[in-house]
Amino acid sequence: MTIRAYRGELLSVAQDPRDGGEVRHEVDGLLVVEDGIVAARGNHADLADRYPDVSVEDLPGLVVPGFVDAHVHYPQTDCIAAHGEQLLDWLDRHIFPAEAQFANRAHADALADVFLTELLRNGTTSALVFATVHEHSVDALFDAALARRIRVVSGKVLMDMGPDGLRDTPATGRAESEALIRRWRGRGRLGYAITPRFALTSSDAQLAETGALLADHPDALLHTHLAENRHECAAVAARFADAADYLDVYDRFGLVGARSVFAHGIHLTERSCARLAETGAGIAICPSSNLFLGSGHFDFGQADRHGLALGLGTDIGAGTSFSMLHTAGLAYQAALAREDRLDPFRALWLATAGSAKLLHIADRVGALEVGQEADFVVLDEAATPLLARRTRPENRRATLAERLFALQILGDDRAVARSYVMGQCAHRRD
Ligand code: GUN
Ligand code: ZN
Repeated sequence: MTIRAYRGELLSVAQDPRDGGEVRHEVDGLLVVEDGIVAARGNHADLADRYPDVSVEDLPGLVVPGFVDAHVHYPQTDCIAAHGEQLLDWLDRHIFPAEAQFANRAHADALADVFLTELLRNGTTSALVFATVHEHSVDALFDAALARRIRVVSGKVLMDMGPDGLRDTPATGRAESEALIRRWRGRGRLGYAITPRFALTSSDAQLAETGALLADHPDALLHTHLAENRHECAAVAARFADAADYLDVYDRFGLVGARSVFAHGIHLTERSCARLAETGAGIAICPSSNLFLGSGHFDFGQADRHGLALGLGTDIGAGTSFSMLHTAGLAYQAALAREDRLDPFRALWLATAGSAKLLHIADRVGALEVGQEADFVVLDEAATPLLARRTRPENRRATLAERLFALQILGDDRAVARSYVMGQCAHRRD
């Protein structure tokens, strides 16, 4: 058994502040970690005597739980900043050609490595990840994540109506998904998500097969895109003319349940919000992507009226930053565009425990509570000259909320001094 302790300023939000969830903050805290799991947490003054022989590492900064990215595409890492198009044309012009290169396993291995390095540089220690249509694109990601002990949930993309070179069939899609589930179930910190790309790239036969697959594997997540962009919504309405709305297309094939994660949800009907709430299905909000592709702004007011389960995602490569801090800052700006005010503690919750709940891993990560895996990030409030000025000692009368908000608006990978995975340092900035 290995036991270590970490001393620093600890901050976490385990439950949605909107539902009364409290901010947990130890100005001079101690985190005791046994074999990668949090064994104790509290004020240093209260706890230190109980662990006299344990070596203590000082953490220089604000310590928060490792971020949980609730929606991101690893094969699109090299596609960030592709100019000129909204969703459907962007997919055709930039994304599908890039994903076709994943037919080559060595290419997938290389990108998986770059992607996971980028996650850790940004303090992200768990993620729900799109791969490509190729079965081995998931093997590449899972192999690399297993070696680094990063918590990754992913799955082969189902898309029998995709472009040339990126199509499976209802039968091969199902068989390959099942082979991956068999191969990877129960290994390390990995999980499987059944992943139809979106309604427009799967036939009715494949959507039906996806529903059957999900019914056979109740421990898997369902991960797809929903009501992201107006042109996409119009195309879905034209193809599925008898569906009540976009969500209903998925619902008819058995794809809407408590383990379903839908990215975006920018253009949701009141009916579909009620149905999401009724089933417990969640939305991964992706503000940088929504701005980049001109999709719109997530409606926090509507979501909260219905009590929707929410998390936060970067959606690389439509998203423009791997940083969940920056993404939280953009979520604030997207909310304000609709006259909603996203509190910085709620934004932190969205980026950690909220996303973890969406991914059904909140018992393991997201709040640095006793019994959880010790994934955490050390944030440097003086990472850039501007941040240093905004948070300088004269300003230290600034409240904790103001300090956290400054990190969300001005911070990014530069503010991540260190990332720890199960108590071990996995990234150190300098
Ligand atoms: N909808 C279907 N595929 C995609 C994708 O790769 N990115 C985004 N943002 N939306 C999608
Ligand atoms: Zn996406």
